[in-house]
Amino acid sequence: MSAPWSALQQLASEPFSLRQAFQHDPERASRYRLSACGIELDYSKNLIDAKRWQSLLALAQTSDIAALRDRMVSGESINHTEQRSVGHMRLRLPDAALSELKDPTLAAEIRQCRQQMTALVSQLHQQRYLGYTGKPIRDVIWVGIGGSLLGPQMACEALSPYHQSPVKLHFAGNIDGAVVHDICRQLEPDTCLVVVASKSFGTEETRENALSLRQWFLDKGADQAAIARHFWATSSNIQAAADFGIVPEHILPMWDWVGGRYSIWSAIGLPLALLLGNEQFEDFLAGAHAMDQHFLQADFASNMPVTLALLGIWYINGMGCQSQALLPYNHYLRLLPSYVQQLDMESNGKQVDHQGHTLPYATAPVIWGDAGTNGQHAYHQLLHQSQLTIPADFILAAKPKHALADHHLRLAAHCFAQTQALMQGKTIEEAKDECLAQGMTEQQASKLAPHKASPGNKPSNTLLLPELSPYYLGALLALYEHKVFCQGAIWQLNSFDQWGVELGKQLSGPIYQALNGKAAQFDSSTAGLLASLQRHLTS
Ligand code: F6P
Repeated sequence: MSAPWSALQQLASEPFSLRQAFQHDPERASRYRLSACGIELDYSKNLIDAKRWQSLLALAQTSDIAALRDRMVSGESINHTEQRSVGHMRLRLPDAALSELKDPTLAAEIRQCRQQMTALVSQLHQQRYLGYTGKPIRDVIWVGIGGSLLGPQMACEALSPYHQSPVKLHFAGNIDGAVVHDICRQLEPDTCLVVVASKSFGTEETRENALSLRQWFLDKGADQAAIARHFWATSSNIQAAADFGIVPEHILPMWDWVGGRYSIWSAIGLPLALLLGNEQFEDFLAGAHAMDQHFLQADFASNMPVTLALLGIWYINGMGCQSQALLPYNHYLRLLPSYVQQLDMESNGKQVDHQGHTLPYATAPVIWGDAGTNGQHAYHQLLHQSQLTIPADFILAAKPKHALADHHLRLAAHCFAQTQALMQGKTIEEAKDECLAQGMTEQQASKLAPHKASPGNKPSNTLLLPELSPYYLGALLALYEHKVFCQGAIWQLNSFDQWGVELGKQLSGPIYQALNGKAAQFDSSTAGLLASLQRHLTS
């Protein structure tokens, strides 16, 4: 373990009390507070003091963050295991700034894609897109998985109060036939558009779902011309999309310089553009662009993505924490944890550095969570009283998107109270006094107090958005993207490949063939499971 990492662990092993830190320093909250693009970050409830924070900032200064950021912006192939550059920030450049791109063909391609999206959205909104029986399109079925689905699905949900589309969206990701079955049960093909969203156009789940949907059209009497009319794709594999039967003018581009989990800013964002309308989709891009500018320009001490990254490093590498909770106190953001799971865990869940050497430290945390207050009646018990330290990000939008004002105040009160409770805890003495005040005897109070006490000293960040609008959602997602980037740079790994997902894909082929009768040798567990499944299927 090299010097900065041992120094981190040494510092983290020194005792620290958050409760005392707040008691001794009435200015603590203002010392550890940042604002970027209208989003406020209160990170005062973290297990840091000036010394610890300075050592983390020093780690950032000596890390690869700045150099890698420059290399990313200049279009170098920083995703070196796939020989690809990383250019998703370009996709949210305002039109005027596109002209400043070094490569004019890139600007032209991005503009053209935006125009194609805008035109399709307008056609669908104005109900000018007619299906093969002459009826207007009423439903869009989005077929994709991972980065080709999680982003649009989450963002469409998050911004549902902003929807202004006559068209409904349906998402088909999982290869489980139940998904397509349920969609087909509710809809008629002649009023549906199917968009096959796959950068590679080779992903099994997406291909199978798309094939089943195509068969559904054929079964309902559609011919090849109807299929051509109703099927679109967004892909970088034009040939495979064309082979599937998608006409060239229905293929929206994807570029190899946009990773799946960073692709919501591209044509993968079409569902969002469709539900929001073109102008609001531009606001979404503008929010992300504003966060890009902040990330590129703010010094590390006041840089929000860098700050979140360093805090994560502190808990993972300093304190040995393995998980990180993401707790949006916003019903509409309930899919955000799944989105950030892919973003963070697929990017930084790695074991080797750029040279292929085993990393001597842990990397990405397990990201998990759900919308508050639901979790308070489930897993918050563990956050408060278990011996684990699980740093948590609480996210609240200040203004609600509904008129139930009192609900919102209660929601906000719970959000802030959770962070306060995690921070200060409740001592055994306090718990005992509480019991005595409730009329218990000394003996009863002493017996119950240890069960009621909470250790506190549990870290959290609070992110306060003015409201959950397209702009602030864009900024929030870009914030997490850059946080993940900074951590990858500090850990010296490639955040932009995902080779780990390949083995399972490779192994599923022979198992699938065995299920179809082809003899093969497997380990005894797999062979036993296969035999049991076959027994059930044939009984
Ligand atoms: O299997 C992982 C993965 O490659 C993700 O990184 C990606 O987002 C997803 O599959 C979907 O890939 P595609 O868009 O090529 O279908």
